[in-house]
Amino acid sequence: MSEPVEITPEAVESAVAEALAAVAAADDVAELKAARAAHQGEGSPLAALNAQMRNVPKERKAESGKLVGAARGRVNQAFAAREEELAAAELAARLESERIDITAVGTRTRTGARHPISVLQEQVGDIFVGMGWEIAEGPELEHEWFNFDALNFDEDHPARQEQDTFYVDPVARHLIMRTHTSPVQVRSKLTRDLPIYVLCPGRTYRTDEFDATHLPVFNQIEGLVVDKGITMAHLKGTLDYLAKRMFGEDAKTRLRTNHFPFTEPSAEFDLWHPTFKDGPRWIEWGGCGMVNPNVLRAAGIDPDVYSGFAFGVGIERSLMFRSDVKDMRDMAEGDVRFSEQFGMVV
Ligand code: PHE
Repeated sequence: MSEPVEITPEAVESAVAEALAAVAAADDVAELKAARAAHQGEGSPLAALNAQMRNVPKERKAESGKLVGAARGRVNQAFAAREEELAAAELAARLESERIDITAVGTRTRTGARHPISVLQEQVGDIFVGMGWEIAEGPELEHEWFNFDALNFDEDHPARQEQDTFYVDPVARHLIMRTHTSPVQVRSKLTRDLPIYVLCPGRTYRTDEFDATHLPVFNQIEGLVVDKGITMAHLKGTLDYLAKRMFGEDAKTRLRTNHFPFTEPSAEFDLWHPTFKDGPRWIEWGGCGMVNPNVLRAAGIDPDVYSGFAFGVGIERSLMFRSDVKDMRDMAEGDVRFSEQFGMVV
């Protein structure tokens, strides 16, 4: 049996004061937890006082019990109040740090834009596919025979000259960068069954300057029909239809005589552009004609049974007067800011 002890109000007060000071000093929930262990847990001064209750003489037990109980109550309350305070402060800090400005402008990922030349090429393709034509393609690195000979160009035709045509080394192999899409006409006649209704879009090459109205690499669209009974009226009707689909109901075309080795008769054709920026006007658009019988023969087609027409237009040029582009070089440079002006066409 231990010695009787006395629990003095001073001892209790000092334990409480220490605990309250620790509560006040705790700056966050973790520190408060440590303070709780030190001042309320086992081995804390208050716990020691509580343990001493056993040895308090009977007659003083009630009084000491009250004293210790009240002290524990105060300390408990102080911890609870501080805990609430700290939790609220931490929540407020977290909410502040996670604050989202829902009105802020987001960072945009640029999606780019399709090139207007590709888009226009596809639009023209769709017009003809809608009439039941097929799309035909051929190589850009072409044999001279397809580009010139089979198209009835004389051996000394000026277009063959090196100042117009990119010859590929070694020259003896007769490979060139095609100067127009017309070799695809020849390939189509050699590989397809009759009748033929094809549209050949593609890249072409000439030793031209790189300036506002010329590109050494540009795109053409070639149309070719070979069937029985084809006349120039079919050609004219097709060109007018294309003009209306691309430039509106009031658009039309007119033919002016011209010469191409692979068509006979041949014509240049102009477009009546009803919505041209500076007012309606005629604009030179492309070349066309009835397929030269020699060209049909070169592909093994009997010109007494079949006839055909062909036409070719430059895409860059068409885009220029359709969308009022002043400088062709903008189409070659591939700057997405140029393409974006034509809208997000997919
Ligand atoms: N190939 C010709 C050129 O590039 C255009 C053309 C195509 C002319 C079809 C007649 C028929 O100039």
